[in-house]
Formats: sequence, C-alpha cells, structure tokens
Amino acid sequence: AEAKQLVPGLAGVPAAESAISYIDGNAGVLEYRGYPIEQLAERSTFEETAWLLMHGQLPTKSQLDAFGRDLSAVRELPDGMLALLGAFPKTAHPMLVLQSAIAALGAFEREVRFGDEEDFRRAWLRILAATPTIVAAFERLRRGEQPVAPRVDLSHAANFLYMLNGEEPDEIAARVLDVALVLHADHTMNASTFAARVVYGTNAGPYDSVSAAVGALHGPLHGGANERVLRSLETIGSVENVRAWADQQFSSKGKIMGFGHRVYKVKDPRSFALQSLGDKMFAKLGHTPIYDVALELEKVVVERLGDKGIHPNVDFFSGIIYQKLGLPTDQFTPIFAIARAAGWLAHLHEQMQDNKLFRPGQIYVGEASRDYVPIDNRV
Ligand code: CMC
Repeated sequence: AEAKQLVPGLAGVPAAESAISYIDGNAGVLEYRGYPIEQLAERSTFEETAWLLMHGQLPTKSQLDAFGRDLSAVRELPDGMLALLGAFPKTAHPMLVLQSAIAALGAFEREVRFGDEEDFRRAWLRILAATPTIVAAFERLRRGEQPVAPRVDLSHAANFLYMLNGEEPDEIAARVLDVALVLHADHTMNASTFAARVVYGTNAGPYDSVSAAVGALHGPLHGGANERVLRSLETIGSVENVRAWADQQFSSKGKIMGFGHRVYKVKDPRSFALQSLGDKMFAKLGHTPIYDVALELEKVVVERLGDKGIHPNVDFFSGIIYQKLGLPTDQFTPIFAIARAAGWLAHLHEQMQDNKLFRPGQIYVGEASRDYVPIDNRV
C-alpha cells in the first residue's frame, strides 16, 4: 500500500532504525553512540571516533593501536590510481574527482561480497585510509607536483597534511584538523548517508555506495556549503560591509550559506566546537580578519532569521579554520568527505545486518492513459 500524503524532502520520515548517532535539534545535542560531541571533540581522535562509530564502543588501547596499523598498511594508492588522478583536468572540482576515484578504487580491489564481514572490514579500512591519500594526491598533481606517499608513523589527520605539503605539519595544525574530522564524522540520516544507504540497499558494494554519497555531499545545500561560506565572506570583505550584503540577500530571498538546518532549530553544536577550536588556533597562529566578518554576519542573520530557527550550522566556521591551515577553498568539501566516510561506512555496516531494498512510492500527477499519436498527426 502506498502512503497518500507527500512529505517533501522526506522531512522527518524515519528511513531506518539506527544506533550510530543521535540529534536533538531543539536542544542542540549531537552524540555518537551516546557520547556527546563536545567530549569527543575535546578528547577523542578521528581514528578512535571512526572505530567507535563502526563498533559501537570506544576501542581499548590494543584495538586502537591495531586499527592504526591496519590503516597505515592500506593508505597508499596503486600506480593505476595515481595515473587516473593525473588524467583529470587540473580545473576539475576535487569532489568530482573524489567521487570517481572512490568508485575506481573499488575497481582496483577484490570484490566485496555482500554480507561478508571480513570483506566489509577490508573495504572499511581501505576506503577510510585511501580517501585522504586520493584528495592529497589530486591536490599535488593539479599543482604540478609529485604526490607524496603516506607515512606509517603519522596519524590520519597529520598524514593528510603531510601528503599535501610534503612536510610534517605542526602539532596544532594536525590536532585542529583531527578535531574537525571528529566533528564531521557522522550526522544521522543526512542526504549523503541516505544516498549511500539507498545504493547499498540494492546489495551494491561499499565503494559504489560511498562514491554515491560523495556526489550527494558535493551539493551546496549539504557539504558544498562550506566552500561557499568562505566565498561569501571573501565577497563581503570587511565587517562594515556585512549589513549591506546581508540586507541584499534578505530582500532577494537568497539563502545565506552556512545557516539553517533541516534538524537543528538552534545553533549547531558542532559550530560551537569549531569556534572554540578556532579561538585556540587563532590565539597561537594569529588572528584571521575573516573570522570577524563571520561573527558580524552571524549577528546580523540571527537578528533577522533567528526566530525562524535559522542559526549557523557546521559549515559556517569550518572553512575559516581550513583556510588558516592553508587548505584551498575547493578542498573544504573533500575534507568533509574524508571525515564522513567513517559515518557512511558505519551506516552501511549497520544496514548490512537486515538490509531491505529502498523503493519508496510516489503520488502520480501526470497524464491519464492515452493513445500514441503518430508524428505526422501531432500539432
Ligand atoms: N538563509 C536564508 N533563509 C533560509 C536559510 C538560509 N541559509 N535556510 C533556510 N532558510 C529559510 C527558507 O528560505 C525558508 O523560508 P520560507 O519558509 O519563508 O520559505 C525556511 O527558512 C525553511 O527553509 P528550507 O530550505 O525549506 O528548509 P530545509 O529544511 O529544506 O533547509 C537547508 C535546510 C540546510 C537546506 C537550508 O537551511 C539551507 O539551504 N541552508 C543553506 C545551505 C547550508 O548551509 N547547508 C549546510 C547544511 S548543514 C551541514 C551539511 O549538511 O553540510
């Protein structure tokens, strides 16, 4: 039986039972496996969080060490992947490259049999480990530089910065990125996670599914917002220009990137965490004037739209931090993907246990049955 009532955007319609993350959008709460995001941001690492999301509990020391070694063993890309990355135009958006490359990675790997735990585990490690390598390698190649091979002694976050720049990052930079990855690692049934689950629901593999998720994440209503926030802040340019720019957006009913959320009606807890990370980072690495522009924009937008539940989301402050780390603007969304891969894969694994094909209904509003008209009789 098909439901009669259309729910645009499936807003609020449960698509699965899930034990991975939890949001209270009115209270501004986000938890992974029951652990508040603030505590994880303060004390966890990306590796530990990825393990937690997959397994449902924090790893022991020996489990975490083994996981680190397992990731290290599969970070490197085969020559064929590097050749593929080198074949893209330098002007290609890195998210398109990443989406292609994740599917391609699957083509270089052994088949993953649906429902096989060991096969899934291998793909989980490979996708988590290789995603930053892909992003860094394409960045190097488009700059006309040789890709840098990963190092076995560096963490996930530090390795990414190392592979980008060819030198070991300073401790603050690595920790800042690490925390940003923790904050982006999962977020219940968002568009990209749902996309991954829909593809996986057909018993396709994890590479196909994560590749689809990257496509969904690219859009400006989802992960692509972080790139656009920075572009808006740069267009505004100074604190004095904020009000005039915002007024123009309000009167043209334009969406202001980095604000609003389907679930949160208050300020996104991740944006508080990113701000406190930013505060510490700017204190050590120097002030960044664009942050002042952002704070003023927050004030002006919340004054005007706060009553509608529109507040900064995770994408509002992340770009400012990534820019301070020296990362190019169009690599902000790929960094989101590096983090969210942990969540996507945990969701696929959860779905593997009792998978059911996603095949929603529709409300047909087209023509009634009619007879074919030969081309010469058409007006
Ligand atoms: N700027 C101005 N008005 C907004 C904004 C915004 N950023 N977001 C929502 N609104 C208004 C919208 O115009 C609508 O007004 P009205 O009822 O008068 O037509 C009302 O709020 C409801 O918005 P909606 O777009 O119908 O609601 P939604 O649940 O579909 O939207 C959203 C969620 C995230 C797509 C939306 O807030 C948006 O487009 N934000 C800007 C893009 C963005 O920052 N995306 C990142 C989301 S968070 C993390 C992530 O996934 O990456």
